This record gives sequence, C-alpha cells and structure tokens, in this order.
Amino acid sequence: MLRFEQVSFRYETTRIIQEVSFEIRPGEFVALLGENGAGKSTLCRLGNGLLKPSSGTVYLQGRDTKTIKTSMAARSVGYLFQNPDQQICQNTVREEIRFGLEYALSDTEDLAAEKERRCKEMLDLFALDGSRAPFGMSRGERQQVALASVLARRPPLLILDEPTTGLDYRECMTIMGIIARLHQEGTTILMISHDMEVVADFAEQGLVLSQGRLIGKGPIKDIIKNPALLNEASLLPAQIPALALALGPGFEAVYTVDEMYALVEHLKGGGHDRSA
Ligand SMILES: Nc1ncnc2c1ncn2[C@@H]1O[C@H](COP(=O)(O)OP(=O)(O)OP(=O)(O)O)[C@@H](O)[C@H]1O
Ligand SMILES: [Mg+2]
Repeated sequence: MLRFEQVSFRYETTRIIQEVSFEIRPGEFVALLGENGAGKSTLCRLGNGLLKPSSGTVYLQGRDTKTIKTSMAARSVGYLFQNPDQQICQNTVREEIRFGLEYALSDTEDLAAEKERRCKEMLDLFALDGSRAPFGMSRGERQQVALASVLARRPPLLILDEPTTGLDYRECMTIMGIIARLHQEGTTILMISHDMEVVADFAEQGLVLSQGRLIGKGPIKDIIKNPALLNEASLLPAQIPALALALGPGFEAVYTVDEMYALVEHLKGGGHDRSA
C-alpha cells in the first residue's frame, strides 16, 4: 500500500528525513510516533505525494510518487492535516464535504446523486448540521468536518496527522470510533498521535521517528513496553505499560500488559473491549 525505500528529504539545506525505509501493508493500522519536530508531518506529506523525496523512493500502491500526479495520489490517500483550518475552505459544512468529492468521483457515475448520497452519509455519520459555517464551530467540530470531507472520498489509505489533538474525551472517542470502524472494514491507516493511550488502544503496528530517523518499528504492544526506545524518542509510555514496567519483570510474569488492560476494563465495569 505504502512503501518508503531509503527516503531522505531536506528543506533547503536542512535534512528533515534521513534514510527512512518501511512498508505499510493493506489493512494495517500503523501509529507514527515521535517528539515535536521529529519529522512526522513531513513524512506524512511524503507519503501522500504532496512532497517528493530528495533521495530514495516512496511507492504509493506500487507507484513511485515522483511519477504520479498529485490528483491521482489524492484519490488513493485521504489526508487529514494536523490543523483542520489548513484544509477547510468552504462556507458551510455541506459545501466542504461536497468540495472534497469534486475530483474524487469518476465521470461514469451519476455525479449529482452520488455526491448527495455521500454527503448525507457523512453528515449522518458525524451527526453534523450541513448548513452550519465551519469557522463558527469548535476545534473538535472543525476536526470532524475536515475528517468527514476526507472520508467522503472513501480513500483506501488514510493518513491522519494528530486526529485527536485538542479534542475533549468524548470528541476523541467519537473520532477514534469512526476510524476504528473504517479499519475493521479494510481501510489502511497511518496515524500520528502524541496520545499513547489512544495509540495503545487502537493501532497494531508502530513506527518511531527521532530527528528524522526511524529508530523503531514493529507491533505497537512491543514498542510501548520498550522503555529504552521510548526514552530515545522522548516519548512518555501509556499509563498501564508504565505501571507494568515500574512493577518490574517479576510482575510481568504474573500479569501480561494485555491482562492488565483487561483487569482495568473489568474494574471500570466494562468499557470498550480491546480484543474486539
Ligand atoms: N516548510 C518548512 N521549511 C523549513 N523547515 C521546515 C518546514 N516545515 C517543517 N520544517 C522543519 O522540519 C522539522 C520537522 O517538522 P515536522 O512538522 O515534520 O515535525 P513533526 O514531527 O510533525 O512535529 P510536531 O509534533 O510539532 O507536529 C522541524 O524542525 C521543522 O521546523
Ligand atoms: Mg506535525
């Protein structure tokens, strides 16, 4: 789905991404982790073809991003900007969602009807009022409008640059619930997040970036239990793995991290099922 091969990128003279290689397979949910300024947003823009590598190659669905048009890349990748205001440009929610569909539908479809169908689908999914003006809405609502506009195109690969930053708990769970459902239905996801609880709960694989270098990749459950790696990337572990690590290897022999999550969910009286 998305493959980086020895990719480096520089803004003028400063190297931002350094010889990064990884592959995201269809259907995977991958978290991209790293401290502020590590190069995460830059890496995402290389992934959706907005930026081209200074050296190395990015393959999007098997094709070199240097050889495909940005409009073609936009059909394969849904990209949620770190700041929703960078992508919202229309006066109403409905127009914004329809704008996202402008070049996404093929000419063979009944365009007007299909646009209307998809627009309604997104308004229902996010429980949004199509007549409202995005700029009068809260940050969390604008984030949902931006995501609705991206999802209306039904991209096979979603790249989400901090989709939950600045949201309250309820807004965060609404957005992550929708993302988790899309993943279950087969959408491939690359998500940047600073929230290690969200990452631990939703992602399967992880990539760890530090000063433009990829210093770790693998199953997320191994990454969040690796204090040396988290420390090198200046990341704080999620609370439960942190507790397990603090309690030491003897404790891990009694309870695995997954069992501790199950125990916490049990004590909370249910909550969402991590194995679902
Ligand atoms: N247009 C640009 N020109 C020059 N340098 C840039 C540009 N955009 C970003 N940078 C620099 O590239 C580095 C990586 O930036 P990037 O936004 O990719 O990091 P990030 O990991 O997404 O950070 P954050 O967590 O703050 O969003 C930073 O040092 C930043 O200052
Ligand atoms: Mg960023």
